[in-house]
Amino acid sequence: MAAMYRADPANPAARRPRLVVLLLVAFFALQLLVFLAFRQAPSPTATRMPESDSEAPRRDAEDSGCAGGGLVYVYELPPVFNEDLLSMCGVLAPMYSLCPYLANDGLGFPVPAAKGAANLSTEILPAELAGSWYSSDQFALEHIVHRRLLSHRCRTADPARATAFFVPFYAGLAVGRHLWAANATDADRDRDCVALLSWLHAQPYYKRSHGWDHFIALGRITWDFRRSPDGGWGGSFLLMPGLANITRLVIERDPWDAMDVGIPYPTSFHPRTAADVRAWQRYASSRPRPNLFAFAGAPRSAIKGDFRGLLLEECQAAGDACSTLDCGEGRCIKQNELVMQLFLGARFCLQPRGDSFTRRSIFDCMVAGAVPVFFWRRSAYLQYAWYVPVGNDQEGEWSVFIDRDELRAGNVTIRGVLAAIPEAKVQEMRNRVVEMIPKLVYSAADKEGLGDGMKDAVDVMIDGMLRRAAEQRRSWRV
Ligand SMILES: *[C@@H]1O[C@H](CO)[C@@H](O)[C@H](O)[C@H]1NC(C)=O
Ligand SMILES: *[C@@H]1O[C@H](CO)[C@@H](O)[C@H](O)[C@H]1NC(C)=O
Ligand SMILES: *[C@@H]1O[C@H](CO)[C@@H](O)[C@H](O)[C@H]1NC(C)=O
Ligand SMILES: *[C@@H]1O[C@H](CO)[C@@H](O)[C@H](O)[C@H]1NC(C)=O
Repeated sequence: MAAMYRADPANPAARRPRLVVLLLVAFFALQLLVFLAFRQAPSPTATRMPESDSEAPRRDAEDSGCAGGGLVYVYELPPVFNEDLLSMCGVLAPMYSLCPYLANDGLGFPVPAAKGAANLSTEILPAELAGSWYSSDQFALEHIVHRRLLSHRCRTADPARATAFFVPFYAGLAVGRHLWAANATDADRDRDCVALLSWLHAQPYYKRSHGWDHFIALGRITWDFRRSPDGGWGGSFLLMPGLANITRLVIERDPWDAMDVGIPYPTSFHPRTAADVRAWQRYASSRPRPNLFAFAGAPRSAIKGDFRGLLLEECQAAGDACSTLDCGEGRCIKQNELVMQLFLGARFCLQPRGDSFTRRSIFDCMVAGAVPVFFWRRSAYLQYAWYVPVGNDQEGEWSVFIDRDELRAGNVTIRGVLAAIPEAKVQEMRNRVVEMIPKLVYSAADKEGLGDGMKDAVDVMIDGMLRRAAEQRRSWRV
């Protein structure tokens, strides 16, 4: 399967080897430059790098701005737990192949590579930003995070210097390939997880902390890993006793499980530098927004009384004030530019729960600079505390909450609630959302990061995890 997609010249994933060669050439050119620049400089101390001086790593890390001077070690796992899954990309998700979305280190194919994606690049996107938009899929998150951590300035190759340990097991991809197979058994869905835990439990640094300073990242919602003992959907990775002490960074967390930490869904914006982010922020701030609110979603007409159906009715009743996009048939993933176009033209976006409480659309909306409107606290406030200001006094700075029961009872209308917010307050909220954009995106930055001290989603994740690992030392250290 992998060989087939690589050989297809029309498939953008086939460009990957070429990209690798280019990167290698660039890397060696850089090395040469550095070598030439420093060849002349006399440096008597440089020859004696202390290898076991415990003060040295602390100072290095503080210089590079890693939280508390900590560093992250990234395990090198047997390829069956990550790389091998990438080569099965054709069978990891139902309905479509993940292969193109796993290209470019998981960012997907650059916009505009897909048919029909031309609008975002030629009509909407400022030319200087063309290289920072990709067609990205949430299921690639595990790969995106792994790649970024490998080249992150807070990474150490020496586990003795690490404060936190990243386990790059692609658990979402691993379970994905068994979720829809009619003949897959519960044991099939858990086999990789059981094998991973048995490998991990044998590692000396795992044994030292019982896993309290270890973490993983999951590109599927937590409920896909919490199959109940009497059967049902998903795998049971997160319920396995062997995972009990490991922090799970996951796109939708279980609000009652303190080991789950919410992280953003990947959007299609992968800026390379702080300048890319600022250009987009200026652009998103300056767009005219003729619609008061917008909604992108697939109505589940089969479900009687589905809340999304109610929102669609509200939108129709609001006439020109509202605009919708039907996400049926995977349209909002395959043609994400249509979603961005929708949200760039609206001041607010509606974010009901769907099949689960969270949705990628929350992040598309905020990256587009529109203010999200929530109907369940579990959609964001109880999810992403590392990334968005939460708590009753702060949620209103960047979002609106509407009581779904009052809406159902007909006591309020969405248009009524939103139109009553003073224009100055709307502007303030929009500014707040736009300020938050860098932390909500997975950058395509190199080792230096976005620069200018600007942090992206992975930087926030590392800071948070380094702090958490340092706090949890109390749980295992004697
Ligand atoms: C691109 O824009 C044109 C005009 O704005 C529109 O008619 C067309 O449907 C758009 N194409 C896609 C793929 O959205
Ligand atoms: C399930 O069926 C597919 C083909 O239908 C087959 O390739 C696969 O080996 C089967 N898996 C198991 C666990 O029986
Ligand atoms: C989790 O931590 C507790 C306390 O530190 C320890 O007793 C237990 O064995 C650990 N569990 C695993 C699976 O490592
Ligand atoms: C809607 O309004 C009525 C009348 O004021 C009130 O009795 C009812 O509790 C309200 N419903 C909700 C869900 O707030």
